Amino acid sequence: MKDENFLKANNARSLWHPMTSPADSLKTAPTIVTGAQGVRITDIDGHEVVDGVGGLWNVNLGYSCQPVKAAIAAQLDRLPYYSIFRGTSNDCVIELAEEMRSFFEPDGLTRAFFTSGGSDSVETALRLARQYHKIRGEGGRVKFLSLKKGYHGTHVGGASVNGNANFRTAYEPLLPGCHHIPAPYTYRNPFNETDPARLAQLCLAALEDEIAFQGAPTIAAFIMEPILGAGGVIPPHPGFMPGVEAICRKHGILLIADEVITAFGRTGAWTGSRLWGVKPDFACTAKAITNGYFPFGAVMIAESVAQVFEGDATGKATIGHGYTYSGHPVGAAAALACLTETKRLNVVENAAARGTQLFDGVKTLMARHDIIGDVRGGHGLMTAIELVADRATKAAPDKAIPARVQEVAYRSGAMVRVSGPNIILSPPLVLTAADVDVILSALDTGFAAL
Ligand SMILES: Cc1ncc(COP(=O)(O)O)c(C=O)c1O
Repeated sequence: MKDENFLKANNARSLWHPMTSPADSLKTAPTIVTGAQGVRITDIDGHEVVDGVGGLWNVNLGYSCQPVKAAIAAQLDRLPYYSIFRGTSNDCVIELAEEMRSFFEPDGLTRAFFTSGGSDSVETALRLARQYHKIRGEGGRVKFLSLKKGYHGTHVGGASVNGNANFRTAYEPLLPGCHHIPAPYTYRNPFNETDPARLAQLCLAALEDEIAFQGAPTIAAFIMEPILGAGGVIPPHPGFMPGVEAICRKHGILLIADEVITAFGRTGAWTGSRLWGVKPDFACTAKAITNGYFPFGAVMIAESVAQVFEGDATGKATIGHGYTYSGHPVGAAAALACLTETKRLNVVENAAARGTQLFDGVKTLMARHDIIGDVRGGHGLMTAIELVADRATKAAPDKAIPARVQEVAYRSGAMVRVSGPNIILSPPLVLTAADVDVILSALDTGFAAL
């Protein structure tokens, strides 16, 4: 390994970072992370902090999950790769599909299609949704509906259903036939409605209106995150997703739950769909499926959708889709070990308890710091703090403000994530009450430094 000075001087010389400009990377030195243990990361200068970001919402079991590391190492020795395209399979992926089926059975999802990550999972679900309708003789159903503020990765299909201009504008024109309705975001919405239940009804009415405008027979699927994550942690009213499900069923539109963040316990329920009592047609997963230790994902498919593909007599059900790394044996081994650990540790319990502690703690910070305009969360370990220049006008703060809070919080013991005006907290699900206190105290110091 090159020495520290070389690494610090050359970070952006030959490397382009995702989600920032190359010029900014050249100007602003990143935190160079060189090690991690438990729920803590260590940087190149030896500074250790609690990881309030959990990698990128994915390191649910922390950085020292030995069974997952051991499973990866053993699988690399035994069979480091083989494809599962037509005609071949591997032992690990077969076992994993059975385990995933039993994990997702309460959601009505009984088949798995494996991918290399969240964007791949979204793309897979969108494509299979169109194919489902073609098999059934409704080939005109090609459009997709989704929520503004939603995040569905950055492939062209996913970016097209994304509800945030940051991931769209530079790459337009995107996929035609993708339309967005307002998110159930009480702090800011076009209806000026602050009551979550009434706002949910207004958004559902907007969905009905859009379906009537587009024509139900032209719409393949509606995709949503059970709790919007990257858009700033927006938990909808409990009636919202069931309302979406009912509208989709009425109009023959498939429901895709983008559970890339919410599956495997983050919300304090095993899946986001289960949290709201919804049975989607597809669930996109990735991230915590391997605890972030290996790039991997899965689309889980409802029994009713599976029956259509498996019972096809027309020849239209050949899946002309897949990735070299679909069903990668090392990823499958990691996912198997992860599922075992996730269930053994019953992470939902700690996610719910620590999530409440974190959410309550952040609300206490709001009472003390006027820069905080809104606090969102309350369902497991997904919490956002929206900063404002002025609470009355809700004007966005200067860009330097969230960055300053982040910097001071980091020096004070916690890594937190900045996304626009939001500070987002998504720590590992195995953190302790004392770790949550470290995050809260570091944030308090960060706000006090403004
Ligand atoms: C809800 C959701 N969908 C899809 C994605 C894309 O996943 P990936 O970055 O693994 O491609 C993400 C990533 O954060 C996500 O949060």
